[in-house]
Amino acid sequence: MAPRTSAEVGGMGHSVKRKEDPRFIRGKGTYVDDVQLPGMLYLDIVRSPYAHAKIVKIHTETALAVPGVLAVITGEDLAKYGLHWMPTLMSDTQMVLPVEKVMYQAQEVAAVLATSRYSAADGAAAVQVDYDPLPVVVDPHQALAPGAPVLRTDKKDKKDNHIWHWEWGDRAATDRTFAEADHVVKQDIYIPRIHVASIETCGCIAHFDKVDGKLTVWMTTQAPHAIRTVFALVAGHVGLEEHKIRIISPDIGGGFGGKVPVYPGYVIAVAASVLTGKPVKWVEDRMENLQADSFARDYHISAELAAKKDGTLTAIRIKTIADHGYTDAAANPSKFPAGLFHVCTGSYDLKAAHVEVDGAYTNKPPGGIAYRCSFRVTEAVHTIERMTDIMAHQLGMDPAELRMKNFVKPENFPYRSALGWEYDSGDYAGALRLAMDRIGYADLRREQAEKRARGELMGIGISSFTEIVGAGPSKHFDILGIKMFDSCEIRIHPTGKAIARFGTKSQGQGHETTYAQILAEELGIPAKDIQVEEGDTDTAPYGLGTYASRSTPVAGAAAAVAARKIQDKARKIAAYLLECAPDDLVWEPGKFSVKGAPDRAKTIQEIAFAAYTNHPQGMEAGLEAVSYYDPPNLTYPFGSYICVVDIDKGTGEVKIRRFVAIDDCGNIINPMIVEGQVHGGLTMGLAPALFEEISYDESGNVQGGSFIDYLLPTAVETPKWETGNTVTPSPHHPLGAKGIGESATVGAPAAIANAVVDALWHLGVRHIDIPITPAKVWKLLRDRGVTD
Ligand code: CDP
Repeated sequence: MAPRTSAEVGGMGHSVKRKEDPRFIRGKGTYVDDVQLPGMLYLDIVRSPYAHAKIVKIHTETALAVPGVLAVITGEDLAKYGLHWMPTLMSDTQMVLPVEKVMYQAQEVAAVLATSRYSAADGAAAVQVDYDPLPVVVDPHQALAPGAPVLRTDKKDKKDNHIWHWEWGDRAATDRTFAEADHVVKQDIYIPRIHVASIETCGCIAHFDKVDGKLTVWMTTQAPHAIRTVFALVAGHVGLEEHKIRIISPDIGGGFGGKVPVYPGYVIAVAASVLTGKPVKWVEDRMENLQADSFARDYHISAELAAKKDGTLTAIRIKTIADHGYTDAAANPSKFPAGLFHVCTGSYDLKAAHVEVDGAYTNKPPGGIAYRCSFRVTEAVHTIERMTDIMAHQLGMDPAELRMKNFVKPENFPYRSALGWEYDSGDYAGALRLAMDRIGYADLRREQAEKRARGELMGIGISSFTEIVGAGPSKHFDILGIKMFDSCEIRIHPTGKAIARFGTKSQGQGHETTYAQILAEELGIPAKDIQVEEGDTDTAPYGLGTYASRSTPVAGAAAAVAARKIQDKARKIAAYLLECAPDDLVWEPGKFSVKGAPDRAKTIQEIAFAAYTNHPQGMEAGLEAVSYYDPPNLTYPFGSYICVVDIDKGTGEVKIRRFVAIDDCGNIINPMIVEGQVHGGLTMGLAPALFEEISYDESGNVQGGSFIDYLLPTAVETPKWETGNTVTPSPHHPLGAKGIGESATVGAPAAIANAVVDALWHLGVRHIDIPITPAKVWKLLRDRGVTD
């Protein structure tokens, strides 16, 4: 689609360079740790070496003797104010600091307050804790088995480690469809615990002003307004009411869902500031971050897919155990304990589906954040895309052909899935066809056959995923009861420049640029003349924040709606200035002109000036608008990815030779930013596919708790991504746009896993759990006598 506005205006479709980058690349960003306040104190946290242990005694004397150490804060101290436990986003409870026992390795045990970061760290090292170890449960299957030690002894009536059971779909119809099927494939799939590993760890500066009783918190949060409300609800009883709380999210160095929940460190820093009246800074180090918070996935899935003889897919049936760690602190909308996992019918027109998920407590840190994913969609996509491939191989059909046969057809949209979602728009075959053309699919299959004949291992994997982003229609989506709308407030200044504020918060996605482009598109004011602000609850309109690719579908729509309100008022002012009826005016981006007399026109800048200097009598001065947008539906971006791998028989190493990613996020605001989002997302999809995993030994010791053994892909491991787009607008979004931020992370792992299994299927390999490490592949090859 050719842009409607000039490059100078920079509306939708222009690859405007990111406004925020000059400050980022010159080291001029302001992250939490850059904020320095006079008299600031520092907090460091004592963490548990045990995954499950009674706290017998905390010895603080040596720590208190460390120069600069002012206090050691324990659970007992917080208990006096009822602040040693806090609610989680899923209405469970989480310890701020423990009083009786610890429940995972690296859990916060006490906090040391000092005059410098170094003194705080020395103090934390000097705190001695006597523990009495308790039996550890790290496997959720064992946690749910009869006789397992009950972990949540704080919950008086709890007799097991089962958190909840959730199911969705028509069980009877699904069972019937399975009974009638010609083919059924069944596979256990484990999607391991991983970590967002954002460049910036979590942290905050809490500053309680004892004079005016106001708390200001600079905080690494993706959802500042929701945090303000949660703080007020939890601490209102100790005087922290909502009008006395200001949350500021400054620049954020990557969030990816990990900066949505409230972590104990934030609360301890707030409590310490309220008690001392001094600013208190707490910033995690890398290992604390990797060991204690921001975990995702950990789904143990058992899936079955049914098909007719001719390859028509008919039903899916899934049972899942969700390992939540010691508390359910998942960042899901309240009504969806398993997130949007029930989008697991994917891009295929299945007649029946049934999903069951059981949450389990284990001795691990809380998990379940929506890591670059709209609440368990990655888990859903991985399952359906792996199962589809297994079915294709089982039937001896080409995986592309099986997909083409079963895709929801363009004419079927809006499409209601067997699990009740209403997909807004899509052309799945179009995206797959384009990906196949780009990569030269038929030639690759020929090459693969030749190589196989020579004993070489080459695989081709497809993932044709459907996403679900933009939570959400407020009748279904809320977080702790707060409806999931989002907002935009625009003020046009007299000289035609503007400021726009949003309820979302960029963590690197480029909102300062793309929101300005939306307004440029709608108002014709050049994007460079529009200042975008987010993240300060004292100034921004209330919103639910940025995660799960909801910014464009929700706040982006709010921007368009607010801009259209401004355009309506601008029309009335223009009519007054041009002495005609408002309906006699024609709008083109940036100006109104009189129908049939294009020379009689007023630019938006002239109209803005008149709004303050020469507006019609009886009309309020000024040119501003606000929109709180409640989307009528989610948006359903989609894509088809094709990955080609070569496997080294000697080492089991998987080499990605080519990876073509065709995405469709509806109308595109900034093609360059979309491409950047896809590149980053693909690398974050490569990571769990081949490298990343957080696991625990039997004693609950974390494996992967530092960057020595939690393998992030670098530029060396990352292949060249070949990207492209199809454009299928969303019919209900005011700009026809869908989200893009997470598509690639959601879609890529299955393409890679499918390619590896495709290379090995003829050897009898049906499935490999991610991460597909050289050791796993090598073992499979050795077991089959392919290598020694
Ligand atoms: O919520 P989040 O910002 O993470 O995700 P998003 O709404 O998918 O947007 C990510 C970035 O891509 C933002 O800068 C969007 O404005 C941009 N984008 C775009 O240019 N065109 C789209 N159709 C969707 C997103």
